[in-house]
Amino acid sequence: MYGKEGVAVVDKSYINVGILGWGTVGTGVSKILMNQHALIAKNSGTDLNLKKIVKRTLPATREGVELPADCLTSNPAEVVDNPDIDIVVELIGGVTEAHSLIRRAIQNGKHVVTANKALLAEHGGELFQLASEHQVSLNFEASTAGGIPIIKTLQESFAGNQIHSLYGIVNGTCNYILTEMHEHSVNFSDVLKAAQDMGYAEADPTLDVEGIDAAQKLILLIALAYRSSISLPQLHVEGITNITAQEIQYARELGYVIKLLAIAKLTDGNCVEARVHPTLVPERSLLANVGGAFNAVCVIGDAVGPTLFYGQGAGEMPTASAVVADIIDAAKSVQQGVSAPISQAWLAGGQAEVGFASIDDIETRYYIRFVVADRPGVLAKIGTILGNWQISIASVIQKDPHGMDTVSLVMLTHTAREKNMRAALSQIYALEEVKGEAQLIRIEEEVAF
Ligand SMILES: NC(=O)c1ccc[n+]([C@@H]2O[C@H](COP(=O)([O-])OP(=O)(O)OC[C@H]3O[C@@H](n4cnc5c(N)ncnc54)[C@H](OP(=O)(O)O)[C@@H]3O)[C@@H](O)[C@H]2O)c1
Repeated sequence: MYGKEGVAVVDKSYINVGILGWGTVGTGVSKILMNQHALIAKNSGTDLNLKKIVKRTLPATREGVELPADCLTSNPAEVVDNPDIDIVVELIGGVTEAHSLIRRAIQNGKHVVTANKALLAEHGGELFQLASEHQVSLNFEASTAGGIPIIKTLQESFAGNQIHSLYGIVNGTCNYILTEMHEHSVNFSDVLKAAQDMGYAEADPTLDVEGIDAAQKLILLIALAYRSSISLPQLHVEGITNITAQEIQYARELGYVIKLLAIAKLTDGNCVEARVHPTLVPERSLLANVGGAFNAVCVIGDAVGPTLFYGQGAGEMPTASAVVADIIDAAKSVQQGVSAPISQAWLAGGQAEVGFASIDDIETRYYIRFVVADRPGVLAKIGTILGNWQISIASVIQKDPHGMDTVSLVMLTHTAREKNMRAALSQIYALEEVKGEAQLIRIEEEVAF
């Protein structure tokens, strides 16, 4: 039997699912599939049968879930090459093995679900192309913001909107660290150590704290919002490792909270600004109040206006919730014979609809903190250089935490161009009274709803 576009319709009452990986997320998915089987059938009309799970090291058991006999295996071929399996769920993580297993599953005509943003950020174009050629879907809701249904929202709910901008708190580890720094006036390194001890941060936290994980998620959000692909090297990415307890305190005194934001903004001329960096957001804004390991994505569309999606961006069950939603969508594709969603055509590297702005050309407001010699006339010298580069100061406060002969000058600027700011800073650093490099943090006011 064939459905739309000649795609085979599977005429059977249940759909067989195979999972690669029985770690944190794989366990959550198996719990939902086994324990909520009847609920899923009632809600979605799909009867999902968990047929195989692959785990490297066996035997294994998990509290809270009893698997069918012969379900566990250490051989991935029993999933990806198994003619009985309709949907393959990749939850092993990493790039190399996951990449080849997903390719094999797609080539075998299986619909695929993955939570692997690192893999999609690097090989997404090629994998979506392959899925499109084989007329299967490659669903990835859990790859960005865990349990928050932001992928489906951008693909379907906001399909009639030009997305003006989006701002995401999409890395729970960074948000947890910054929230702790705000609430307890502690240093970055102390919070990171505590977060690692409690399992909120990886032993090697580089991908999180350097902003790479957030950037990988931004690549996926941009592909959906702007029908264009951007690679990691094209993005401007700054992490949170340079944020000090002082910055947090001064930002608070000025009415702001520091968040690591993944930002995409459509500017004049069909150009998108794409960047990840620590950002001052007004303390009254909803994003400022997204605390702990929670995630949130603010999307502003031309028709819908501002919207905010909030929830748990990681963890066993929230992430599994998103994976199961993707499995149900894939099951409908199997049963109804529909091919991959249309959006996957441009995820596969179709014609880009927008260009991407260089960080030099963005225009924004800035928080700047200089450490300077405590002498008359320094502020005037700095103000003159900024003025020469068309940067006007909105407010200045002087702080004295350094001891006898240096002070901090903390400034907020009006909107200025980044390349002017960099040129001004290099001249300011040449002043004998200025000690070291300034702390420079961009400000976003638009999130203030
Ligand atoms: N954890 C989260 O909160 C979260 C949130 C969003 C997205 N994700 C994404 O979800 C994916 C899975 O994350 P996770 O936290 O569940 O990982 P995890 O806890 O490390 O689990 C990985 C599982 O895959 C198995 N595995 C690894 N390589 C394998 C191979 N070559 N063959 C067979 N099995 C293999 C491991 O088996 P062994 O146990 O035997 O080694 C383990 O059971 C990643 O892409 C991650 O980025 C995770």
